Amino acid sequence: MNVIRFTDLCAQGKVAGQRVFIRADLNVPQDDTGRITEDTRVRASVPCIQLALDAGAAVMVTSHLGRPTEGAFKPEDSLAPVAERLSELLGREVRLVADWVDGVEVQPGQVVLLENCRVNKGEKKNDETLAKKMAALCDIYVNDAFGTAHRAEATTYGIAQFAKIASAGPLLAAEIDAITKALAQPARPLVAIVAGSKVSTKLTILKSLAEKVDQLIVGGGIANTFMLAAGLSIGKSLAEPDLLDQATAVIEAMRARGAAVPIPVDVVTAKTFAADAPATVKAADAVAEDDLILDIGPKTAELLAAQLREAGTIVWNGPVGVFEFEAFSHGTEAIARAIADSKAFSIAGGGDTLAAIAKYGIEKDVGYISTGGGAFLEILEGKTLPAFEILTKRAAG
Ligand code: 3PG
Repeated sequence: MNVIRFTDLCAQGKVAGQRVFIRADLNVPQDDTGRITEDTRVRASVPCIQLALDAGAAVMVTSHLGRPTEGAFKPEDSLAPVAERLSELLGREVRLVADWVDGVEVQPGQVVLLENCRVNKGEKKNDETLAKKMAALCDIYVNDAFGTAHRAEATTYGIAQFAKIASAGPLLAAEIDAITKALAQPARPLVAIVAGSKVSTKLTILKSLAEKVDQLIVGGGIANTFMLAAGLSIGKSLAEPDLLDQATAVIEAMRARGAAVPIPVDVVTAKTFAADAPATVKAADAVAEDDLILDIGPKTAELLAAQLREAGTIVWNGPVGVFEFEAFSHGTEAIARAIADSKAFSIAGGGDTLAAIAKYGIEKDVGYISTGGGAFLEILEGKTLPAFEILTKRAAG
């Protein structure tokens, strides 16, 4: 993707003394007291900020936090906990600035955090007046917020239209590069794992990937619907019978290209959805009427693991079973370990997937772990994300 990269601007000496506005995604989970419970996004945003500081810029950073009501700031909307965490990570004070749209005082070599940008009126609707005011705050705009790249808001889109220079930060650029490597120029075979409870929420992803991948591994409730489409009984498992035609269409589209959707040969079932429900391994054609399928079986896990070990590229979104329950976690663990062992370039994204990666401790063995939730899914759907679109336009002049 042809965008102006902030790292290049720094290397070219174009950043010293400049006012740099960084849109990061610091939207982190918090507990009831406001304490950050998971800080991956804050840590992932540090390199861009450090780069700007090292280059001698006056640095302004902002992000949204949650989905506040515009124009009605509440204490829980505050980025204060993030400012504190950023200060620790950068080893310097990060001043939090409120009401910043009309002017920000910051000197070269300093960094300030601009309070929750979604509290500004017009942010969500990408208001042009707001975007122009924000663009006027800086010489260089940097979008480093991959997690928000699917939103056309004033800090992710409008400001990029009007800023003197609009560039992609290192995190955004790394995400673009990893996704391009995985989907645009993949080493083959390209294997995708798409799991989740409903075909309906991931139908566009399944259709888009069906045109590209060599193996489309489905899991969770999605796999149940595909098993139904393959003529198997699934008992009282979660499925969407009204989407059988769509599932069949995906299977047919894959078959026509000489590719495949592997249907489980065995499954792990229970009579109730509970952590302590007794687990029974059954052949895929032996599921009883009162069974719930809660995981893939060991034979299926081994077959899929063998495919993953042979893959050139792996895209992973979603655990294949109820991995939060020990008895139904083995399928997801087998998949995770096969990805870790595979020589393939692997890319993973989505909240549950990241939780599985953390549970099995394979962070270092996955080629790239995306910081995007919705943004990652929209890329898999084949969409061009607004943040990339505007940065590409600006790079073209
Ligand atoms: C996310 O958490 O996926 C991003 O920060 C985007 O948040 P949003 O869905 O509220 O726009």
